[in-house]
Amino acid sequence: MQQFTVLELLSQEINHTEVEVKGWVRTFRANRFIALNDGSTLKNIQCVVDFENFDEALLKRITTGAAIHITGELVESQGKGQTVEVQVKTLNILGDSDPETYPIQPKKHSFEFLREHAHLRTRTNTFSAVMRLRSALSFAIHKYFNEHGFYYMHAPIITGSDAEGAGEMFKVTSLDHNNLPKTEEGKTDYSKDFFGKETNLTVSGQLEAETYAMSLGKVYTFGPTFRAENSNTSRHLAEFWMIEPEVAFMDLAGNMDLAEDFLKYVLKYVLDNNAEDLEFLDKRLQDEDKRKPQAERNDMTLIEKLKFVTDNNFKRVSYTEAIDILRNSKPNKKKKFQYIIDEWGADLQSEHERFLVEKHFKCPVILFDYPANIKAFYMRLNDDGKTVRAMDILFPGIGEIVGGAQREERLEVLKEKMAAIDIPEEELWWYLDLRKFGTAVHSGFGLGFERLVMFATGMGNIRDVIPYPRTPQNAEF
Ligand code: 4AD
Ligand code: MG
Repeated sequence: MQQFTVLELLSQEINHTEVEVKGWVRTFRANRFIALNDGSTLKNIQCVVDFENFDEALLKRITTGAAIHITGELVESQGKGQTVEVQVKTLNILGDSDPETYPIQPKKHSFEFLREHAHLRTRTNTFSAVMRLRSALSFAIHKYFNEHGFYYMHAPIITGSDAEGAGEMFKVTSLDHNNLPKTEEGKTDYSKDFFGKETNLTVSGQLEAETYAMSLGKVYTFGPTFRAENSNTSRHLAEFWMIEPEVAFMDLAGNMDLAEDFLKYVLKYVLDNNAEDLEFLDKRLQDEDKRKPQAERNDMTLIEKLKFVTDNNFKRVSYTEAIDILRNSKPNKKKKFQYIIDEWGADLQSEHERFLVEKHFKCPVILFDYPANIKAFYMRLNDDGKTVRAMDILFPGIGEIVGGAQREERLEVLKEKMAAIDIPEEELWWYLDLRKFGTAVHSGFGLGFERLVMFATGMGNIRDVIPYPRTPQNAEF
């Protein structure tokens, strides 16, 4: 007898063969109909029990959440909603589930409740759909880069450089906190620590990726990154995954083209390959919308939104143009923004980014050429001496999804910029070496993976698109 997943069973020809399937009971109706799910698809397979043939004690153990093993005949379904079903011959309980205490009852649960039961939440339709999409998106990302001649590079997770993450890094140490070795000045003596120096969890693999771009040409990283910023928002995690391509001989315009092509490709991939899960999440959003006041409803469905991104060009706008638009905007004039924009040089807050994307342009926007002093030291200084070749991509409902730049490739300029913000040259000697030995124009960007998953699934909180979210005061599981 052949064992099948539910997905395989549902696409079988009805040939009355004996099949075998294992999964978890979603519901058991009328002592007769088991809806069985094994995670391979959103759909359940209906397994029909002829209750006269089974022991009552056994039937009682077919409860929501129980793991069971069924053999039976695959037949045409009499009921609506499925073409095939299994006529049960044998039924084994692999693992009981106490219906009194099993948290995932067949009813609507709030996302807050499910976050507290994150170890079981993928047994719901919404979370299994989100996590299958997360998996598909990550595959599509590797596929894109593989098809475009990029090498996958593993940047270190423990880093000895803290130049990029000043102030928001998690320390990595094996010292005993209750008995720290001290230097003569009374500071912690990190020379006694595991690595003989201060080390942190990385905030970005970019600087290391640059070293590989400057030898292998086209590379990307895709790994976890960590930020100890205390932002308790629906878009920030302390541990999140980032995709960082880095390409030699590519300027900012090429960087924008790459980012746009890449984002369209991965979204198109899930539109083409994950229709069932997307349709489910689309419907979920539409139901949620119906309960909202008219003004807060989405003007596009989830699938329309994804197609809109794959089918239209992103709007490319300089920071200076964006500031003009914002300065003259209604919410700015009526002081509806929390941060009023009155001068060139102001940093953009998410309220401004969202105004540009959602109200003004109504499409993804690439903002570029930001003021140097609100962006990182490694960004290429423009000839005007005050802006840098930075780019941020803003998505509707999300805000910033990508941050990137053409890198400063001129040794002297880079040294000056580092000196201006007190980054010692010794700390980034290897990074400076790239500018000493065969420097060249190069660019890259970072895509926040969870923000992409939020966009693709329509989920409103970043905690609901990563298996086990790490946020301030929360590292359960
Ligand atoms: O804009 P960021 O900070 O850029 C960098 O780290 C660059 N080194 C990237 C590069 O050029 N290679 O972060 C990149 C993206 C953001 O646009 C956002 O999508 C995401 O990472 N991100 C976060 N996602 C979740 N939680 C956080 N705390 C995030 N911080 C940034
Ligand atoms: Mg950024």
